[in-house]
Amino acid sequence: MTDEYHTPVLVEEVLKFLVTKPDGIYVDANLGGGGHSERILNKLLPTGVLVGIDADEDAVNFSKKRFGEKILTIHGNFSHLSQLLSEKGILNIDGILFDLGVSSFQIDSPEKGFGFRMEAKLDFRFDKWQKLDAHTVINSYSEKQLADIFWKYGEEKFSRHIARKIISYRSSKVVETTSDLVEIIKSTVNNKFINKTLARIFQAIRIEVNHELDSLRSGLSNAVNILMPGGRIVVISYHSLEDRIVKEFFKDCSMEKVYSGHKLIPDKELTPVLKILTKKPVNASKDELKRNPRSRSAKLRAAEKV
Ligand SMILES: C[S@@+](CC[C@H](N)C(=O)[O-])C[C@H]1O[C@@H](n2cnc3c(N)ncnc32)[C@H](O)[C@@H]1O
Repeated sequence: MTDEYHTPVLVEEVLKFLVTKPDGIYVDANLGGGGHSERILNKLLPTGVLVGIDADEDAVNFSKKRFGEKILTIHGNFSHLSQLLSEKGILNIDGILFDLGVSSFQIDSPEKGFGFRMEAKLDFRFDKWQKLDAHTVINSYSEKQLADIFWKYGEEKFSRHIARKIISYRSSKVVETTSDLVEIIKSTVNNKFINKTLARIFQAIRIEVNHELDSLRSGLSNAVNILMPGGRIVVISYHSLEDRIVKEFFKDCSMEKVYSGHKLIPDKELTPVLKILTKKPVNASKDELKRNPRSRSAKLRAAEKV
């Protein structure tokens, strides 16, 4: 059942790092089709609690049907984690998993318009109740704003050319669909790596539409605040922008000292709130890579509340 919706990645690694207290309160902050949740549930005693959050109502409804009362499901954005949980009477947790990004189900759903291999209206929202969508971004942002997004969130070297071409297209027509956008990009960047360019541009728009990087920063700091001592935070990211945020966040939270670098100025002592459990990110095993190519870009980092 899981695989039809989405094949969860690094499952054994998640379980190893996340679940330390079988009767504890755990959160799956990216519920999706519930692939990870199912395995977490199996590790918990009946007295344990699992909360599943997703910004996509379709994912929440899918998991509600799948798990019934076994999981407390919440439709919401994990950037408001503390608030979402406190509304359900939960103030502290023993562990949280972030499995960032999009599910295979979302990529394969034409109406969500995430993929560039499918004709769809430009949308890219995880949460269909949110106002900002890809159509607005592509048709109303200035050339500079578009170029900045493609550069910052897609690390795309043809960012300016592509932005210019979009603006020129807009002078006569509205960019309605993913195919319109693909054609614009193809007419700008005519090289054999076009699929990589398309992937970078689509990633950049998705990050902008869903405020993904800000949500991640906010979700992480909310999580650290409500974790019980000894509680674990596990994050799986799929691109370098996300991984960099997680790495820096863990580093900042685990620092014991800020070195002044000057003989006369004393170093500043800090009280660390996290202990890093993964010095280097954990990648998928060869076996998993064979079974699930999507695991190729996955990087897992874990830390424990001090
Ligand atoms: C990679 S999928 C998770 C798959 C899931 N672990 C499974 O095994 O089926 C990521 C999910 O996170 C959701 N999502 C992304 N950003 C979110 C956010 N800021 N808040 C809540 N959910 C988010 C997406 O809607 C998507 O369903």
